Amino acid sequence: MSVDSQQVLEFPPWPQFGAEERTGLIRALEQGEWWRVTGTEVDTFEREFAEHHGAEHALAVTTGTHALELALEVLGVRRGTEVIVPAFTFISSSQAAQRLGAVAVPVDVDPDTYCIDVSAAEAAIGPNTRAIMPVHMAGQVADMDALAKLSVDSGIPLLQDAAHAHGARWQGKRVGELGSVAVFSFQNGKLMTAGEGGAVLFPDAEQYEEAFVRHTCGRPRGDRGYFHTLAGSNFRLTEFSAAVLRAQLSRLDEQIAVRERRWPVLTALLAELPGVLPQGRDQRCDRNPHYMAMFRVPGIGERRRAALVDALVRRGIPAFVAFRAVYRTDAFWETGAPEVSVDQLARRCPHSEALSQDCVWLHHRVLLGSEAQMYEIVSVLADVLATS
Ligand SMILES: Cc1ncc(COP(=O)(O)O)c(C=O)c1O
Repeated sequence: MSVDSQQVLEFPPWPQFGAEERTGLIRALEQGEWWRVTGTEVDTFEREFAEHHGAEHALAVTTGTHALELALEVLGVRRGTEVIVPAFTFISSSQAAQRLGAVAVPVDVDPDTYCIDVSAAEAAIGPNTRAIMPVHMAGQVADMDALAKLSVDSGIPLLQDAAHAHGARWQGKRVGELGSVAVFSFQNGKLMTAGEGGAVLFPDAEQYEEAFVRHTCGRPRGDRGYFHTLAGSNFRLTEFSAAVLRAQLSRLDEQIAVRERRWPVLTALLAELPGVLPQGRDQRCDRNPHYMAMFRVPGIGERRRAALVDALVRRGIPAFVAFRAVYRTDAFWETGAPEVSVDQLARRCPHSEALSQDCVWLHHRVLLGSEAQMYEIVSVLADVLATS
């Protein structure tokens, strides 16, 4: 299906909301209790989110970044320890470890799924490693079979960064059923959102209780005497955000089903375009919520890629350049970087290097568009590639 070269495409907006969010916000407002300590919205959302993901416990927090910090702290990450992270990810994955005074050790990713390369993670394990953080990139669950084995063999816990993976499944199991702590983000662009927000799923009651206390300034439940028993901070989600998230959760599955129908169409068409390689899918990820529609244009280079993204945006397609390898930012080197050079890391992470330069992603709202629009996207992309 070709598209007129002037046509600007229109996709469903994001975030989406309706009567459920309005009712939830009014309910929280009229409850007259606007923080979780005396309200019921956060508690209820946590129960619903945990249940939806097959987890024993969920703790809602202020952001996904805070969720990572809190989860790493509960896993014993402190100054002098190390956390293995994929080099190709959003910076919060490494920054959360660094904020705790730990060293973030970036390793390469698989060039097809863009998820952590398990043998690279294994090779990076040292005496100070306290956690391995797979990121379920764009909803593609990392190889949780190989990672679970690595975790058992090494005794090092996994922390799933599931900021992109609400509702995902691996071999029929939901994220909360995979045996490790998992972290989610509810930032504005995420698959369910309250503008900001995060959550941690725990398979273990003790870890959950510790996280609960730490997320509320180290104050035990019911404390009225200011007995702060653990170090912590204020990572509490508001009642308003939780009310919105309850509404967002109620339409997550329906939206995943639409995206799961659109992605195979889009990906097959992208794969037919010369020079374009869509993100691959490990079939063991049997439910991919598709946070981003990612593809590579190998050899395009950063400048041409930026022009490509601008041209797609002008045609109404919400396109973005993909993450820069975390060690290619100044922030990474400020604190908690391993004692190696950028060049050494780049040599260790050739696929992350390539993705940093040739990968583009489309906002998941395009996958909520019609099937015909998948053809239109690829027609515009072909057009733009031919002329840029
Ligand atoms: C992979 C990944 N991890 C963590 C985060 C952090 O989430 P938040 O923006 O809610 O702090 C993000 C956010 O975009 C992300 O993409």
